[in-house]
Amino acid sequence: MSDPHDMTFKHPNDGDNQEPFDDHHAIIKGLLDTSASIAPKYFYDPLGCRLFEVITRLPAYYPTRIESDIFLRSAPTIGKEIGEGAILIDLGAGNCEKAAGLFDVLKPQRYIAVDIASDFLDGVLKGLQERYPNLAIEGHAYDFSGGLTLPPDLPKSHRVMFYPGSSIGNFTPDDAMKFLREIRKELHLGGHLLIGVDLVKEDQILDLAYNDPLGITAAFNRNILNHINRLIGSDFDIADFNHVAFYHREEKRIEMHLEAQRDLWIQWPGGERHFRKNERIQTEYSYKYRPETFESMLKAAGFPRVKTYLDEAGWFSLFHAEAGPGFVNE
Ligand code: AVI
Repeated sequence: MSDPHDMTFKHPNDGDNQEPFDDHHAIIKGLLDTSASIAPKYFYDPLGCRLFEVITRLPAYYPTRIESDIFLRSAPTIGKEIGEGAILIDLGAGNCEKAAGLFDVLKPQRYIAVDIASDFLDGVLKGLQERYPNLAIEGHAYDFSGGLTLPPDLPKSHRVMFYPGSSIGNFTPDDAMKFLREIRKELHLGGHLLIGVDLVKEDQILDLAYNDPLGITAAFNRNILNHINRLIGSDFDIADFNHVAFYHREEKRIEMHLEAQRDLWIQWPGGERHFRKNERIQTEYSYKYRPETFESMLKAAGFPRVKTYLDEAGWFSLFHAEAGPGFVNE
């Protein structure tokens, strides 16, 4: 049993072997590419985290609501299959509410929350530790866009990897496959992965989820420019860029872009870029899967036993996958 004061929080650059997130070179390279882009990890400044929390409560943004219904229904079964005393590793912690919903059934010995937004996570974990004073809680600010990083001193046995919210959809399918393999390598034979994945469905439902009538997703998208201004000293004016989001059926992905409303120059110390009217900056892809496709990916990544939980409409899926044989050092 741990003392509440045991709660630790590690920022990326205090010895956890990660680069700082504000990678000027990568940001500027993305802006100067013929098809300009900004990586979605830059959505999550403090205001972006709050806007994302609001998105998850919007009627139009069904994934969070449906995933939480699936959890409510399946948690007792999953809890029995996993058993008590796990080390619960939350790979996309956010406000930690999804993981907290599992505490009663899993009774984990430790909760490791990982998220890119360090300040936001720090605040969330303080509140969580007060609610669960006997649970050992730890936070880590890691960026998974370049691969999986875990705290180095974590025992490998009893791990349950938790990756909810369809964050896997923000990787390309190839990178998603690599990430699943990396997760498998971090588990012992019989270790568990719980992963939420958004599914292919009618275009209109997907389009609405990323074009909510209140305009919160638009604000979330445009706010990335304010964050970039602070990181590289650029002079984006969010009023010059419109939110554009649509479902690309062939690619099975939502695309989010920011579209210039007029011809303009953007400047930053040491550089500049011209944008033509209607030219776009790509900010996010959010891939949608068919349940059988994702199940095959899990199997190919080293999880031969997969249980799939779906909502009635088949809009979202939760996979409970068990690590199979095939890796050394386990
Ligand atoms: C975090 N991620 C899974 C969200 C998604 O749906 O791809 C981010 C988001 N972008 C716009 N709305 C939500």
